[in-house]
Amino acid sequence: MEEGVTRIGVSLPGNLLEEFDKIISTRGYSSRSEAIRDAIRNYISEYKWLDKEGGEIVGVINVIYNHHYKGTSDAIISLQHDFGDVITTTMHIHLNEESCLEMIIVKGGMEGIKKLVDRIMTIKGVANVKLITAVRERTL
Ligand code: NI
Repeated sequence: MEEGVTRIGVSLPGNLLEEFDKIISTRGYSSRSEAIRDAIRNYISEYKWLDKEGGEIVGVINVIYNHHYKGTSDAIISLQHDFGDVITTTMHIHLNEESCLEMIIVKGGMEGIKKLVDRIMTIKGVANVKLITAVRERTL
């Protein structure tokens, strides 16, 4: 075994592993271990910022919601007015008859952005909220 390498055993449901293997085969990984290392690195870089206090980030909050649900659009818009200091711009995409995707580009203090994400999650009619960070404090 390579120096500084730790072996771990992980239990996974069969269908999850099957799906993972299917994807890595289309991406040209030479081994499953290599793909898992990459997946872990991505996971860390996505959530690392949660660990820190203060600091600035740039990212996008993807919000999927049902626009037939009464009050959801209004609540999302009203919240964006409250958090105008960290919101750069917003894009709205009508996904299908009932679902909308709102992409909220954010730049600023991570505490405010975290609060905004938490508030969006509590709005009724919101199906999914995901924050994707593009740039973190060190590279800003
Ligand atoms: Ni729409």
